[in-house]
Amino acid sequence: MPIRREFPPRSLNAEALNEGRVDSHYTKVLIRLLAAHAMAEKLTALGYQRALATLDNPALRPIVEKNFAEEKKHARLIYDALEELGMSQQAADRSMIAVLKAPSFDAPSYFAGKAEGELDLLMASLSLDTTGLIMIGENYKESSYAPHARAAEIILDEEADHEIFASRHLGDAVERFGVKSVNTALRRWIPRAVNFFGPPGTGFTYDCIRYGLKSRDNEELAELYVTMLSRRCEQLGLEMPPLTATYPHSLA
Ligand SMILES: [Fe+2]
Ligand SMILES: [Fe+2]
Repeated sequence: MPIRREFPPRSLNAEALNEGRVDSHYTKVLIRLLAAHAMAEKLTALGYQRALATLDNPALRPIVEKNFAEEKKHARLIYDALEELGMSQQAADRSMIAVLKAPSFDAPSYFAGKAEGELDLLMASLSLDTTGLIMIGENYKESSYAPHARAAEIILDEEADHEIFASRHLGDAVERFGVKSVNTALRRWIPRAVNFFGPPGTGFTYDCIRYGLKSRDNEELAELYVTMLSRRCEQLGLEMPPLTATYPHSLA
């Protein structure tokens, strides 16, 4: 049975929450969601920044610089929204320490700290920008919390560009590195990318959907991503790695 949504899109702002016009649990759930979103944007920005320092292909620099600047801006937008609710960036980041170790944060953490070389950069983009586009487009654009919906709209415009980068370069990568290397990279990254959507059917997501902070469950979005990527792999003669059925997914 679908979950009944209590608040329509863009119906609430910081004032309404700060004045206590809404159940305080709404604010708690919202803050947790925003803190996770901000952290994902921040780690993605750090990944692009690291790529700039380690990249040896100068042709990629302009686009990586652009992505870095935009991801930094995305993180800023969400941290500003948290600030409006009385939560500092530091406190938000601190609240994420345990979550950072979860499989759902493996992709952004790996990009920020360990990714190396052009194929990793491309895989990170496929794992973070393409997934981000789905999460933000499907879930946050229609958020009941107006500031998050507005930030999502700005982010979405730029993520669409990042996603074009990722899909175009997947084709280039096949030409430059060969099908075998790209398939190997996909096997390393796709489980992480799919886990980025998070566990299915949690109480937290239930609350998010009930409050209109998300529209769909993590699992539905993960399926959408797998379908999208499978099609793209097929077109390029690549093999979409088969995954285990349950979260956290690994190679089957
Ligand atoms: Fe972003
Ligand atoms: Fe992005």
